[in-house]
Amino acid sequence: MLVAELVEKGSFEAIDALARAFPLEVVADLIGFTGEVRATMLRWGQAAMQVLGPTNQRTAENFPVAGELYAWCSQVTADDLAEGSVGRGIFDAEARGAIPPDTAGHIIHQYLGAGVDTTVAAIGNLVALFAHHPDQLALVRESPALVPAAFNEVLRFWAPVHAWGRRVTRDVTIEGSEIPAGAQVAILFGAGNRDPRHYENPDAFLVERNPVDHLSFGYGPHGCAGQGLARLEAHAVIEALSRRVGRLVVGPEVRVPGNTTRSIEELPVLEVIPA
Ligand code: HEM
Repeated sequence: MLVAELVEKGSFEAIDALARAFPLEVVADLIGFTGEVRATMLRWGQAAMQVLGPTNQRTAENFPVAGELYAWCSQVTADDLAEGSVGRGIFDAEARGAIPPDTAGHIIHQYLGAGVDTTVAAIGNLVALFAHHPDQLALVRESPALVPAAFNEVLRFWAPVHAWGRRVTRDVTIEGSEIPAGAQVAILFGAGNRDPRHYENPDAFLVERNPVDHLSFGYGPHGCAGQGLARLEAHAVIEALSRRVGRLVVGPEVRVPGNTTRSIEELPVLEVIPA
């Protein structure tokens, strides 16, 4: 529906009108935000990601905003959230003892902190990638079953999260470098995703590749808890774009450095050439 309206308009700002608008609506409805809080979600979600990663000026500037999110989540009650929402469901679980007391607000904090900026980045990236590779969009149009594979390739090609931390549990040697037990390391997802020992022709964007083992959702027991939702959202956008759009003519994409997410800040779509 949203994509249909944008295609109809013929030109639009892809990050504001699609990459931000869609996940914000979805996550707001999921958690059950109503009223004013809906409008602060983007600011809060971005700040939650800026305070992770290296400590720098962005961290300092964003701590107060991330603190607003934390404070709100610490005092939110079931009544603040829409009936029938997943947020309400988390409070119901707390009330019946299925999760420990006083944890519902913190779970909601996790979902908001982790689920907004990452998905905005992924959807912005997919619009830009399909604008640059109309041949790959055409392949998805010809075979709609490629939609999940196409999203895996988007995530492999441009990891929305630069780096994530791990604590090393035992001494390890990787290609001659010793990493001692207890060290804190940053895993660079993008580097693994483009490893030529693992992916043939890694710098090519190919929707038929279906790299199910890309690292962009992390790995192991703490892999992304929201990846099912992220996939639902992105698949809907890819499916709608491939069905309606032959080619997107875009202006220059603006990127702004971020501490955790690698995302596009502005992406003008100047013309939509219909499918
Ligand atoms: C394309 C979008 C997304 C990307 C690229 C992404 C990426 C990640 C990454 C890299 C991690 C760390 C995994 C690890 O340590 O191995 C993570 C964790 C997490 N994500 Fe996502 N994420 C996305 C969307 C979402 C959404 C929509 C939600 C929820 C609504 C969400 C909720 C979480 C949570 C709760 C964790 C922490 C899991 C844990 O520590 O056990 N994410 N995500």
